Amino acid sequence: MSNRRLAVANWKMNPPTLMEAKKTFQAIAKISAPIKKVEIVVCPPSVYLASLKAGYSGKKIAFGAQNIHQDDKGAKTGEQAASMLKSAGASFSIVGHSERRAMGEDNAAIAKKVSRILEAGMAPILCVGERERDSSGNYLGFIRDQIKSALDPLPRAKYGAMVIAYEPVWAIGKTAKDAMKPEDVHSSVIFIRKTIAEFSNITIATEVPILYGGSVEPLNASELMRNGFVDGFLVGHASLVPTEFKTIMEAVAAN
Ligand code: PGA
Repeated sequence: MSNRRLAVANWKMNPPTLMEAKKTFQAIAKISAPIKKVEIVVCPPSVYLASLKAGYSGKKIAFGAQNIHQDDKGAKTGEQAASMLKSAGASFSIVGHSERRAMGEDNAAIAKKVSRILEAGMAPILCVGERERDSSGNYLGFIRDQIKSALDPLPRAKYGAMVIAYEPVWAIGKTAKDAMKPEDVHSSVIFIRKTIAEFSNITIATEVPILYGGSVEPLNASELMRNGFVDGFLVGHASLVPTEFKTIMEAVAAN
C-alpha cells in the first residue's frame, strides 16, 4: 500500500440543482471535519465546481473534475479544457472512467487527457478495469494496456502525481453484495503495481495510490480496505449520501 489515503466522491450527473449540490457539499464538509489523514476529493458536475469552491473556506476537501477535453482550447462546443477546470478550483481530475469509455473514449484519447491534466497542474485519477472476467485471464492484458497506454508517454517523474482507480465495470452502480470480493481486489492491486513497476521501478510502483471503485458502500468499505489492500475508494452513489460517505471515509482512515 502507498502511504496516502484517499476518499474520492464521484457525483456523476447528480444532484439535479446547484442548491442541492451546495447542501450535499456542506453536509460532507461538516461530517468530514473529524476525519484525519485522508485526502477527501469531491468531484461534482463541472458546472457546480466554481460555486462550491467559492463557498468553501476549509482546507480539508479538494475538488476534482470528472472529465476534461483532450485539447487545450479551440472550437469544441460544449467541452472544457483542463486549464478551465483547474481555474474553477479542481486540483484532481477523473480520467478514463468506464462511463466515458463507453461513450467512445479510447486509450489514445485518455493518454492525451492524462497529459493535459498534468500540464494544468492537476492530479489525474486514472480509471482502469475490465468489462468482464474470462477464465483464461485475458482481462489482465486489457488492464495492462489501459495502464501502459496512459503511462508510456509520461516522463517517470510525473508518475508520482498519478492516482489509479481500479473499477471493474461489472461492479459499478450496484450494491455492496455485488461489489468485487476483497481478495480479488487485492490480486488486481498486485497486478496493477507489477504493471506500473514494468514501466518505472518498485519504489514508484509502491507509491502510486490505488483506489477501488464499484459499489463501495458503508457495508463493505472496511473489509475492502483491510483485505483488498487499497489506498482508498472512488465512490459513486454512496458519495451523494453524506452519512454513508462518512462511514466510508472512516473506513479509509482506520485502515
Ligand atoms: P458506484 O460508482 O460507487 O455507484 O458503483 C463508482 C464509480 O463509477 O466511480
